[in-house]
Amino acid sequence: MQDFHYQEQQLMAEQCRLDSIADQFGTPCYVYSLAHIRRQYQAYADALGSRGMVCYAVKANSNIAVLQQLAKLGSGFDIVSEGELERVLAAGGDAEKIVFSGVGKKPHEMRRALEVGIHCFNVESEAELDVLAQVAEEMGKTAAVSLRVNPDVDAKTHPYISTGLKENKFGIDIKRAPEVYKRAAAKPSLKVAGIDCHIGSQLTELAPFIDALDRLLQLVDKLEALGIELEHMDLGGGLGVNYQGEQPPAIAELVEAVIEKTAGRKEQLVFEPGRSIVANAGILLTRVDYLKPTEHKNFAIIDAAMNDNIRPSLYQAWQQVLPVAERHEETLEWDLVGPVCETGDFMAKQRQLALTEGDLLAVMSAGAYGFTMSSNYNSRPRAAEILVDGDTAHLVRKRETIAELLAQEQLL
Ligand code: LLP
Repeated sequence: MQDFHYQEQQLMAEQCRLDSIADQFGTPCYVYSLAHIRRQYQAYADALGSRGMVCYAVKANSNIAVLQQLAKLGSGFDIVSEGELERVLAAGGDAEKIVFSGVGKKPHEMRRALEVGIHCFNVESEAELDVLAQVAEEMGKTAAVSLRVNPDVDAKTHPYISTGLKENKFGIDIKRAPEVYKRAAAKPSLKVAGIDCHIGSQLTELAPFIDALDRLLQLVDKLEALGIELEHMDLGGGLGVNYQGEQPPAIAELVEAVIEKTAGRKEQLVFEPGRSIVANAGILLTRVDYLKPTEHKNFAIIDAAMNDNIRPSLYQAWQQVLPVAERHEETLEWDLVGPVCETGDFMAKQRQLALTEGDLLAVMSAGAYGFTMSSNYNSRPRAAEILVDGDTAHLVRKRETIAELLAQEQLL
């Protein structure tokens, strides 16, 4: 995470001191580095050149300022709900560069997407195909579709974030796909535009991507023989990042391998990266409220909890924790836990740190699936989000207030 570094024993986000950010905006808060986001996006865009389009997966980090900055660089977007669609539009994103994924799109969501003219629907089932055809027909429009096929490859990642195996709920069985394509091609309100797959997230090897691509290419050739020609091939997202020493392929390595495999083909390529653009662009800044050494363990109670970042509790995810002020004192082993009333509420376990009450800590690699998966559990207002650009820290989401927490509810 080169954009977060120590300078005179103080952890910085680009040229901003994190202790100053904590003083100004309070804790817990998410802090993102714009330089990192730009660099990661650009790595995809540069490697891809004119061969295709990058559609950033909004679910990873959907703050509208983040989307705005990506849109300015020319990014497209992969969305999974009407809410994400409205975020992209509010951020100034180009509707024509939006692909709409997800297994449960509602007719009203399809309608809105057709109204604004998105690039393509990634259709995940035959039932959905029928509903989309009907919605488009009622509107007198043609919906561009891509079928998300399930290539049945093992992405070798955590079972909760593996999506390309035949036992997963995602996509259409690759063996049945030709039949479904024929059905789609026969519907006047649909235009067959592409093929799509996404086999999982936090992939640290190239092989599963290439296996999936091989299977996709066989299908594309089969479809061509049936007279069904495609305009694009969408390889989804999934490239992993370094949380704990993992060494995933570089972005350029992945994109170049795909370009090489598809050399001479006419179809445009689409990638839907989320994590690899934003994960290491963000940290969760938190303060140590209480130290509670016990006979068995030392607990440090911090002010960020599972409602702020659920990844450790949900996936046993490991994220590095760094002190904001570098210390050279003797360390002890600590479990860092939040204030939520659940044993599963922990941010990190067995970390060697020198801690004092009031210290600031940075939970690293928190830019993806951090804030977007946060909740109000235990009636905790959601954290603030700050986007750092050089020496300027922009507040891009205010901390929620208690009044906002109660605003949607009413007494009998
Ligand atoms: N496209 C589709 C259709 C997806 O389902 C996903 C992620 C992506 C793209 C982006 O994948 P990425 O490049 O971020 O790996 N909450 C989990 C990750 C869930 C991923 C869901 N789908 C986590 O915190 O690890």
